[in-house]
Amino acid sequence: MSNKHKISVMISEDKLQEKIAEIGAKISADYEGKEIKLICILKGSIFFCCELAKRITVPVKIDFMQTSSYGSGTTSSGNIVIKKELDESIEGEHVIVVEDIIDSGNTLFRLMPMLEERNPADICICTLLDKPDRREVDIDVKYNGFNIPDEFVVGYGLDYDQMYRNLPFIGVVHLDDEN
Ligand code: IMP
Ligand code: MG
Ligand code: MG
Ligand code: MG
Repeated sequence: MSNKHKISVMISEDKLQEKIAEIGAKISADYEGKEIKLICILKGSIFFCCELAKRITVPVKIDFMQTSSYGSGTTSSGNIVIKKELDESIEGEHVIVVEDIIDSGNTLFRLMPMLEERNPADICICTLLDKPDRREVDIDVKYNGFNIPDEFVVGYGLDYDQMYRNLPFIGVVHLDDEN
């Protein structure tokens, strides 16, 4: 592959598929008899959300939201802006917020109360990846695919400077090898 950076595989495509099927089955059992609204947090969660939705056997609706954090520094700040709002109300719905990765936790720490104010029947977080070592605030995660070490990862929706979202696996970018 002619990528600009050296990228090594951390989680293979097979492992991702297997884990997502597992989460899908768990969600299907937990929400039996109910209808789910998945909130896909753009852009990073699109691949995960699509694959997960296909593995859920109870009725599913999908809506999209995009946030960005502002402030300086390499981790997200406490402040978030909604760049793309949900199309529909979540009032009375069983909501699952689908994230690609939880890092500092600041984004969801701000976003969850904003969504809770809209009176869903219930709401929880489902993330493909979690970097627990990086956490700055307490976040209650109901479904988590993989805990990963503190390394910058790309692929399966996650980007480095908007690149590499299309890689079918989760990989580590070796930025020091840049030339
Ligand atoms: P948090 O608010 O620090 O939890 O920010 C999480 C967001 O930062 C994620 O939804 C990603 O968009 C981005 N992010 C955090 N770690 C990585 C990474 O290793 N690769 C790509 N994006 C990341
Ligand atoms: Mg993001
Ligand atoms: Mg994200
Ligand atoms: Mg990004």
